Amino acid sequence: MDPTIFKFVHYIGILTLFFSLGAMFSGASWKKSFGMGHGIGLLLIIISGFGFLGVAKLGIPVWAIVKTIIWLFFGASLALAKKGKLKGLAAWVVIIGLGSAAAFIGLNWKTGKLPAFMVKNLVEKKAE
Ligand code: HEM
Repeated sequence: MDPTIFKFVHYIGILTLFFSLGAMFSGASWKKSFGMGHGIGLLLIIISGFGFLGVAKLGIPVWAIVKTIIWLFFGASLALAKKGKLKGLAAWVVIIGLGSAAAFIGLNWKTGKLPAFMVKNLVEKKAE
């Protein structure tokens, strides 16, 4: 299958997730759609992320595990927003910061810009 399809779905998931995060952290009264967008976005991101790794035959590199940890945080962010544990400027910095980190990793795993531990297993694979 064309890996571009997985990337496109990855982007749809990211847009859906971040639209719902914007709503959740806006301080507006809670609506069911916030949680639905959050869940659907996360699901699309993880399916397309691992789907891409599958079609590209990349295995499960460390950088993908790091992105999955970031993804888990985005999952937990719903509770943080609901309980008001993360809000205001801190919410902007954390959400945009982690989203940017995930994007940077996705874009740069083959450019040599990531810390060595994230791409170590890929380099070893090449050397074999
Ligand atoms: C949590 C939020 C995430 C964000 C914001 C995000 C963002 C991105 C972005 C912007 C790209 C670059 C797409 C392109 O090249 O056009 C990308 C690529 C990718 N991401 Fe994610 N990602 C996230 C989570 C994940 C997760 C959980 C996985 C799980 C494995 C994953 C796997 C991938 C893969 C395999 C690629 C393609 C890399 C390539 O082009 O060679 N991402 N991601």
